[in-house]
Amino acid sequence: MWGGRFAEGPSAVMREINASIPFDKRLWQQDIAGSKAHVAMLGAQGIVSAADAAAISAGLDRVAADFAANGVPEDLTLEDIHMVTESRLAEAIGPAAGRLHTARSRNDQVATDFRLWVRDAIDQAEAALAALQDALLARADEHAESVMPGFTHLQSAQPVTLGHHLMAYFEMFGRDRSRLADARARMNLCPLGSAALAGTGFPVDRHATAAALGFDGPTRNSLDSVSDRDFAIEYLTAAAQCSLHLSRLAEEFVVWASQPFGFVALSDQWSTGSSIMPQKRNPDAAELVRGHSGRIAGCLVSLMMTMKGLPLAYSKDMQDDKPPVFEAHDLLGLSIAAMTGMVESAAFRTDRMRALAESGFATATDLADWLVREAGVPFREAHHITGRAVAAAEAAGVRLHELPLETLKGIDDRIGEGVYGVLSVDASVASRTSFGGTAPARVRDAIAAARAARAEE
Ligand code: ARG
Repeated sequence: MWGGRFAEGPSAVMREINASIPFDKRLWQQDIAGSKAHVAMLGAQGIVSAADAAAISAGLDRVAADFAANGVPEDLTLEDIHMVTESRLAEAIGPAAGRLHTARSRNDQVATDFRLWVRDAIDQAEAALAALQDALLARADEHAESVMPGFTHLQSAQPVTLGHHLMAYFEMFGRDRSRLADARARMNLCPLGSAALAGTGFPVDRHATAAALGFDGPTRNSLDSVSDRDFAIEYLTAAAQCSLHLSRLAEEFVVWASQPFGFVALSDQWSTGSSIMPQKRNPDAAELVRGHSGRIAGCLVSLMMTMKGLPLAYSKDMQDDKPPVFEAHDLLGLSIAAMTGMVESAAFRTDRMRALAESGFATATDLADWLVREAGVPFREAHHITGRAVAAAEAAGVRLHELPLETLKGIDDRIGEGVYGVLSVDASVASRTSFGGTAPARVRDAIAAARAARAEE
């Protein structure tokens, strides 16, 4: 492509370090789409003849059909997807192919292709997260009244409902979707026509190519256009944040599926066995989702480090932008799909959740609140009294509501019979009616609001 200036070819290692075709062949559809928009514009502007433009466009369709049927050839001498496509085009239509690269550089070409690819990746992640949200909604609806222990420090804290717990993840994935949508809105400008760095003297119509490729308009500064990878970093930021949420949900499944917890039985489809221990049902998929989040965060850091300190405009370092984005996209897609499958098929052991919710003195706060409400005791004092009641129950080996009234009265005689009405886990949960609270009625409100919002999307 640049042989005119060179007497010798590159060394083998030069060729290998320079080539991006082994990974950037994933951009082939975007490369064809970008070239078709470009050549249509060149024809419309009279920069190439209508006949050449038509021949190039038809030739690009043939190249695309060939790639779809046979894959993209990994020819290191052709370096990258842009050169491979162009050389195939030349084989298909002859010398007219040489006019395609008029008023264009690989710098604006790759920036355009990559934006198109990242835009698709965002759309795929968004749709997959919406499906995960729907799975969470369905399971939350089933379990709006199922009591489980709520934890802080992974210690029994206060009873909550499983529906409420699942809806917490619905919120997280909703924020992830909105971050992806923000990134998409900001990135949807087209670099094509910025050429190598300075723009072009040909009378290109950048608004036309931008519109043809579904962008909101052209980017505004040619130097920035060819050297900006913010869109990829923003996508990776959103992906990394999302993967943190996935890893937290995955961790819950790992813990819940363990025998001491026994809150969930993963279906056969989402478990693996052990080659030595026949009793095992391991939550490998959840563990891998947890693990993948580290790799996805690593992809973000990788691209940030690539971009750090690069002077304007394009530098070849930027060819390293693609592997972390491709890797993160693949890992994220698998992770979302795996969590969706696990959520859909999990058998929640609500009997076990209830038993544990009842065993950890989780209604101690309700006793303290009762003292405040019914006996006018200041909260700090109520806290202290309740602590003594918990100690008494612990010493007697009973649950709070099993302590006889005389024992409670011995601790503080303002405690009366009515307290037993708040010490059950059901009463505790039902009382948490503040907006966003765990009372089944509030959880049902949250589910209804979420369904309405999903229906409006
Ligand atoms: N393969 C290159 C990349 O991915 C394409 C741009 C090459 N531009 C250049 N001036 N060498 O970044």
